Amino acid sequence: MEQEVAQLCKISVYNFSIIIFVLLLLLQLESAESPDPPRYEACEPRNCGTGPNISYPFYIPSAEADFCGQRDFEIVCGEKKPIFRTSRGPYVVKDISYENNSLRLVATEVDESSATSCLAPSRNFIFDSTSFIFGPARADLLFFYGCNDSFTIDLETSLYPCASNSSYTSFVALAPLGDEDKTRDVDSCESQVSVPIDLEGDQSKPSIRSVDYVGLMKTGFTLKWTGGAACGKLCSESGGRCGYEDGAGVCYCPDGTQRPTSCKRGT
Ligand SMILES: *[C@@H]1O[C@H](CO)[C@@H](O)[C@H](O)[C@H]1NC(C)=O
Ligand SMILES: *[C@@H]1O[C@H](CO)[C@@H](O)[C@H](O)[C@H]1NC(C)=O
Ligand SMILES: *[C@@H]1O[C@H](CO)[C@@H](O)[C@H](O)[C@H]1NC(C)=O
Ligand SMILES: *[C@@H]1O[C@H](CO)[C@@H](O)[C@H](O)[C@H]1NC(C)=O
Repeated sequence: MEQEVAQLCKISVYNFSIIIFVLLLLLQLESAESPDPPRYEACEPRNCGTGPNISYPFYIPSAEADFCGQRDFEIVCGEKKPIFRTSRGPYVVKDISYENNSLRLVATEVDESSATSCLAPSRNFIFDSTSFIFGPARADLLFFYGCNDSFTIDLETSLYPCASNSSYTSFVALAPLGDEDKTRDVDSCESQVSVPIDLEGDQSKPSIRSVDYVGLMKTGFTLKWTGGAACGKLCSESGGRCGYEDGAGVCYCPDGTQRPTSCKRGT
């Protein structure tokens, strides 16, 4: 009798270890089969708390994997606003149209200035990549700081009183697209800054005196992004989310697969 019990115990200990072994094996297989979350989920659109939704080709590197967007389209969040950084300084992204491949930017110093402070822009916009061009309504506001009596340009100018005093005179002018060459008078002023704006509508002879230039600066300017984005409408219309791998666009589908352009069958 005692012997039989001992025998039974041995068998069940033996069985038990086999069960544990099989369980461990299954666990191992399981973890090998489900690595990272699917890329479709990883590239879900995000935002910074305010402002437009950020999705491909834009992405937020601090919150998303690199395959969710393209280098030239990096967005950082600052005080809940989406920020596009350039080598000359940061710009707030006011709006993105994925339909029109365009975005609207305002320099942070302009965005933050209050109605009572003197808005004296200090930097020019610069393109750091060939992924962007100005939108079709682009014009420039020109700020001339610290000019003397010999200052003259071939455009109507306004004195900019808040940036002037008895020994330091500043002016502002509006240069419609195509008039950039009229805008230089490097010899009579300490510095010059040009701020892109959008001049919408039918302005036959726009001049600095006929526009609300502070309002225009606060509205910002439009950039368009060009063909290089590589994944687009076909993917999102088919329910997918775009990403970027090895220099090419890919379409991540809700079922976990990824395809070149679209999640529709047969594409
Ligand atoms: C962002 O996306 C969410 C979910 O699709 C949507 O409800 C919201 O209206 C979008 N916000 C903007 C600013 O487009
Ligand atoms: C896209 O562009 C068209 C034509 O310029 C314009 O009417 C439309 O409002 C734009 N859409 C967005 C979302 O900006
Ligand atoms: C005039 O303004 C310039 C630039 O802001 C400043 O450097 C200078 O000290 C000011 N001069 C007087 C007399 O206020
Ligand atoms: C005007 O100012 C510029 C630079 O500040 C200087 O080079 C130039 O000689 C000045 N011209 C006159 C007439 O004072």
